[in-house]
Amino acid sequence: MSRSKSNLTFPRQRSTTKSTTSGNSPTPSSASANQDKTTSKESKTRAGISLTDLVRTLTTLLAVSLSLSYYLTSGDSLTFHYRPWFTKPTQLKAWIRGPLLLTPSELTLYNGTDPLLPIYLALNGTIYDVSVAPQTYGPGGSYHVFAGRDATRAFVTGCFDLQHLRGEVKGVERMYIPVEDLEEEEGEGQQLTRGQKKVRREQELREARRKVRAEVERWSSFYANSEKYFKVGRVVVDTNSKAEGEVPNLCEAAEKARPKRSQLNKQRAEAGKGSGKPVFKPKNGKPV
Ligand code: HEM
Repeated sequence: MSRSKSNLTFPRQRSTTKSTTSGNSPTPSSASANQDKTTSKESKTRAGISLTDLVRTLTTLLAVSLSLSYYLTSGDSLTFHYRPWFTKPTQLKAWIRGPLLLTPSELTLYNGTDPLLPIYLALNGTIYDVSVAPQTYGPGGSYHVFAGRDATRAFVTGCFDLQHLRGEVKGVERMYIPVEDLEEEEGEGQQLTRGQKKVRREQELREARRKVRAEVERWSSFYANSEKYFKVGRVVVDTNSKAEGEVPNLCEAAEKARPKRSQLNKQRAEAGKGSGKPVFKPKNGKPV
């Protein structure tokens, strides 16, 4: 640092000496030329010095940060446990290879039964590598059913029988469509006309479809933003294979879990209070 300071002042001193020893007062043009020279010399010197200083400062900061991380993590990590994706060999390899395009039958090979292959699962057509969690997705794991296939439907319904392990989500919105119940039929329901009930059904269907999309999104972002898992490609249509078969109804558990209309009315009334959103009202003005 002390050397930098002396370098900074040196050129100015030299230029002063020159002008005084010559004894002549400089003409305006030669003075400005001299000044230009001096300024350019100064800025060159300053740029060189500040770069050195910058490097020194950064090196010191890096050393302090590395040591602090090493100390705070008891020698486990030099980067406070932060590991960017490109430092992970499997992720780097997948990135270099580019996106994988697998048909559903090719995807089944990656269900964890072959120890030489990675474990993949697909969600909404996107394939993720979940090899780091064989205890969860490998054979015997609690969520092995998701490995080697696109089981988006089961992610939403929680129905894990084979027929439900598919990508198709058609009909899943039923989960969120309320079950008619006596309490409601004899209460608020009585006050609605047939037309109003029809509008209500349409609203509920739209809302239910929105919830299915939101649930799929939630799981997709769980895998996409995970520290452990990463995206490897997409499932492509297999033109040679047979169709998946008829779309199943909801399993018993999901059917039982459907909300009752009277419950939903209460929730809606609560949500409508002060949310500023318009609430559908029957003739007598009560919110539905
Ligand atoms: C729609 C229903 C459900 C779905 C789709 C689902 C899905 C999943 C998935 C994919 C994981 C693994 C997450 C990871 O990779 O880190 C997981 C973990 C877990 N789930 Fe569920 N789950 C459901 C319901 C439940 C329920 C009802 C329970 C408890 C009664 C439960 C208990 C657990 C536990 C304890 C773990 C962490 C342990 C493990 O990885 O095995 N899940 N769940």
